[in-house]
Amino acid sequence: ASKQRLLVVANRLPVSAVRHGEDSWQLEMSVGGLVTALLGVKEFDTRWIGWAGVNVPDEIGQKALAKALDEKRCIPVFLDEEVVHQYYNGYCNNILWPLFHYIGLPQEDRLATTRSFQSQFDAYKKANQLFADVVNEHYEEGDVVWCHDYQLMFLPKCLKERNSKMKVGWFLHTPFPSSEIHRMLPSRLELLRSVLAADLVGFHTYDYARHFVSACTRILRLEGTPEGVEDQGKLTRIAAFPVGIDSERFIKALELPEVQDHMKVLKQRFAGRKVMLGVDRLDMIKGIPQKILAFEKFLEENPNWRNKVVLLQIAVPTRTDVPEYQKLTSQVHEIVGRINGRFGSLTAVPIHHLDRSLDFHELCALYAVTDVALVTSLRDGMNLVSYEYVACQESKKGVLILSEFAGAAQSLGAGAILVNPWNVTEVASSIGYALNMPADEREKRHHHNFKHVISHTAQEWAATFVSELNVTIVEAQLRT
Ligand code: UDP
Ligand code: G6P
Repeated sequence: ASKQRLLVVANRLPVSAVRHGEDSWQLEMSVGGLVTALLGVKEFDTRWIGWAGVNVPDEIGQKALAKALDEKRCIPVFLDEEVVHQYYNGYCNNILWPLFHYIGLPQEDRLATTRSFQSQFDAYKKANQLFADVVNEHYEEGDVVWCHDYQLMFLPKCLKERNSKMKVGWFLHTPFPSSEIHRMLPSRLELLRSVLAADLVGFHTYDYARHFVSACTRILRLEGTPEGVEDQGKLTRIAAFPVGIDSERFIKALELPEVQDHMKVLKQRFAGRKVMLGVDRLDMIKGIPQKILAFEKFLEENPNWRNKVVLLQIAVPTRTDVPEYQKLTSQVHEIVGRINGRFGSLTAVPIHHLDRSLDFHELCALYAVTDVALVTSLRDGMNLVSYEYVACQESKKGVLILSEFAGAAQSLGAGAILVNPWNVTEVASSIGYALNMPADEREKRHHHNFKHVISHTAQEWAATFVSELNVTIVEAQLRT
């Protein structure tokens, strides 16, 4: 049988474009858990629809980019600068993102945000309609249309209004917060209603799904059932589908000569020291300042470790036009500078902080050679970095310190050391515990997590979601 056609719609395409000339484009891998998860989806005839991360005002540029993207089975949605400013920087990343992660609106511009709320929400709806237009242009009867994440909560409604027969799923890659948080949004009703237009709505954890259902029952006064939410006889299925990674891809990469070379260089560079690893987008949800302060406390209390351990923090720049992200960058630089000044020597510093992304092979090598991974998210939908670390640690059996506020804590809790990232004392002592952990305990913990990571893959996640969507639609037809 031929593969089922799948249209994946997400704000971020798996590749982002950099312009090199009037009609020449370079495509780079995009960074983020959403892209990583969807790259693992293989058993469908998939096309991607999304934004390439650049403003392309001219027709020559648009045509050339569409052609370059076509080779990657990607279809661009073009957003002009003003829309990007109001929709992406504004509504998505200055309002929804902090709110969904329980951070709230930035203190200083609360009032400014309140004032610009309506125009940003209008831009959000307009942008979602632009995505819908491109979907409609490429849709063929029978296609499954899978919409992703908080940037596209309006999309299911746009799609269903035009074609009620379309099979539409929506998946959220972030937490869905308690209804007490969601109800602060001036657009709370419209957002919930438009998501409910989908046939199937998915979340990473059962808690997020439960929060969404209670938002619908409390805010929309709809009826929640074990299956989902019902509105005048129409059922929207709601369920948890925890994502995974394409673990094979990581495990195989470790055998490649280039990766082995990187590993050799890293081992030499850090010989005689234990290496702790952090890999995050430079985002306030990742708790990077909290992580670094806990590391400082550990050094303070354990002078004997001072020359024997290093924290390697990869902090990938992200959403750099949003003021809160700019502030975070300088805050982190300041703390790192202070601690390196305090505990560094002429030849070594305790923290290596990199403001850049790594390519896949460098990243795999780092995952494989480091002794401890530190994931201190204040909130995180899932956190795939923790999965990737586990996948690459079969020979070393390093320790994962993981925030209890990451979705991954629910699946890797048995093997990881779970911490509350706000509790600097607890994180500092967990660092000590991890660094001193005997080999048999490390092995046992790693084994637990490794089993989970290789048996819960991105492939299965996608297959389960799509088959559930197909079943939901058949059942709905039987009911009417
Ligand atoms: N990543 C990457 N290059 C880097 C650092 C990270 O491609 O230099 C990837 C990493 O492999 C992971 C993703 O970015 O797959 C981050 O996903 P996660 O779920 O941990 O967090 P998110 O960024 O989605 O909040
Ligand atoms: C998170 C979000 C994704 C987003 C990614 C990177 O994983 O859930 O939707 O793509 O971060 O952020 P960006 O704004 O660069 O797309």
